[in-house]
Amino acid sequence: MPPSHPTDEDRPLAPETRLLHTGYDPRAYHGFVNPPVVHASTVLFNDAAAHVANAQKYTYGRTGTPTIDALELALAELEGAATVRLAPSGLAAVSLALMSCLSAGDHLLVTDSIYAPTRRLCDTVLKRFGVETTYYDPEVDADGLAALFRPNTRAVMLEAPGTATFEMQDVPALSAVARARGAVVLMDNTWATPLFFRPLEHGVDLSIQAATKYISGHSDVLIGTVAASERAAHDLTAMHRNLGLHVGPDDIYLAWRGLKTMAVRLARHQESGLTVARWLAGRPEVTRVRHPALPEDPGYAIWKRDFTGASGLFGADFAPVSDAALRRFLDTVTLFGMGYSWGGFESLVIKARPEEARTAVPWRGTGPLMRFHIGLEDPGDLIADLERGFAAMAASDPDAE
Ligand SMILES: Cc1ncc(COP(=O)(O)O)c(C=O)c1O
Repeated sequence: MPPSHPTDEDRPLAPETRLLHTGYDPRAYHGFVNPPVVHASTVLFNDAAAHVANAQKYTYGRTGTPTIDALELALAELEGAATVRLAPSGLAAVSLALMSCLSAGDHLLVTDSIYAPTRRLCDTVLKRFGVETTYYDPEVDADGLAALFRPNTRAVMLEAPGTATFEMQDVPALSAVARARGAVVLMDNTWATPLFFRPLEHGVDLSIQAATKYISGHSDVLIGTVAASERAAHDLTAMHRNLGLHVGPDDIYLAWRGLKTMAVRLARHQESGLTVARWLAGRPEVTRVRHPALPEDPGYAIWKRDFTGASGLFGADFAPVSDAALRRFLDTVTLFGMGYSWGGFESLVIKARPEEARTAVPWRGTGPLMRFHIGLEDPGDLIADLERGFAAMAASDPDAE
């Protein structure tokens, strides 16, 4: 059991403090500050009575170890969840969550801004198992979402902001529509982490994290988590058990370790991200920055109302530019790597392709949409790197604005 810390109603512990002191009690394991990394399949019963009654805290490596418990309990506390289950990747966590609440014949509503492999999962595996998916405008209001409901609509999936396009969603309003119709609400909350947004407090039932990103924070592990409300917990636990999902103890430990420094890392990602985003917004090569924590962003009001912070991932629409000039930009910057992940210590930039995915509302961008992840480097160095990139882009494409 985690230690209990004295709090009073006037001064509950801040989430930054709680995440350092939940999940595991050092007194339970000889005073070691971190939990043991238990490699296990076989667990022996103490005696025949325990065996016959199957009554022992741990009985098999797949169904629980002190390492699994530590991360699950810490995240349950942070998410305000009835239970948390671990999955071998963020995408596996999405699959687990969706499969826990859907059956053949069900209808699913998914935001058009969803992480692309989640869309592929819906369009292939779920379709094959008899679940039909309708994609909706990410900026739909409550009435618009209600109009899409069918008698068999069983679940609604949210993601805010969208991974590549950064639209915000009114999570409480959309969740209320779904709940009133008996549907389960799922949300991919990887961008904010449970430190900056707690989905279960806003009507969501299944809150998903690609812990690969900010929770782990060092680009060296894949892991996913699903946190469930009371009403979704039983089905989540059953599906997790039935699928036989398991995460190796070393990977769980890396996520646990990352969690301990997540608050300070996120503060830096937020600050540097806003610095670079504001700088980009002032550049002639950029027509629009997509970052919900900038007051000019259409999602700002919702972000300000519901979220307590912003991470380091945002988008920038470049003015129309030739492919060759864009390649020059990408090949000139050196501190920004080109890579699909994010949430680690390093800065990244990629060209997003929302126009290839959208089915509910066609994507309307002015030019290439670039997705930036601002890492832990000095923001002045990052801006100087981008300046060099823009100079090379202009030299290669002198007519571009
Ligand atoms: C928003 C979002 N959800 C889920 C995932 C999937 O995580 P993983 O790569 O660990 O499967 C990603 C990965 O990029 C992501 O960006």
